[in-house]
Amino acid sequence: MNTLVVYSSLTGNTKMVCEKVYEIIEGEKSIVSISDIKELDIDSFNRFIIGFWVDKGTADKRTREFIKKLSKKEIAFIGTLGAEPESDHGKKVFERVTELCNKNNNLLGGFLCRGKIDPKLVEKMGKFPLKLVHPLTPERLERIEGAKSHPNEKDFENAQNYFKSLFAR
Ligand SMILES: Cc1cc2nc3c(=O)[nH]c(=O)nc-3n(C[C@H](O)[C@H](O)[C@H](O)COP(=O)(O)O)c2cc1C
Repeated sequence: MNTLVVYSSLTGNTKMVCEKVYEIIEGEKSIVSISDIKELDIDSFNRFIIGFWVDKGTADKRTREFIKKLSKKEIAFIGTLGAEPESDHGKKVFERVTELCNKNNNLLGGFLCRGKIDPKLVEKMGKFPLKLVHPLTPERLERIEGAKSHPNEKDFENAQNYFKSLFAR
């Protein structure tokens, strides 16, 4: 088994979780930022762990484009998002990415965890015109506040345990 961990991360949350999971992968392995993916021969890997940040309810664009290029591979995903993974929003994210991964590939499993939201985005949300799209409602403020401490040590441990048991099957 030759595993590639590839991550797309704007502010570092997804990169951190992917690096922790990478530590526990057995066999041949490599880890790369999606920005450097062109330097690798994709076909030399048969298992992929794809890390993404959640953008408007699904995986970020670069990740979606990467997944669409893969065919007949074993893949698993790691996503970080501001919302609770167990929330309706989190469940929809999971479903959308699952559907995308299963189109041309074999999805083994997926792990979502919270990731702090870029303060610059939070600032923008309070301003026109984003105010109309993303009003800073009490629920949204609570979500932003709740995500602030993530990903934390517990998230790293959960992610590692998830992949240990997924690959032990
Ligand atoms: C433009 C933008 C859109 C986002 N959209 C969502 C979203 O739809 N749902 C959500 O739960 N979090 C959303 N977030 C929060 C990020 O997914 C979250 O902070 C993530 O951990 C960032 O990962 P990174 O540090 O690897 O870039 C958004 C963040 C940005 C910057």
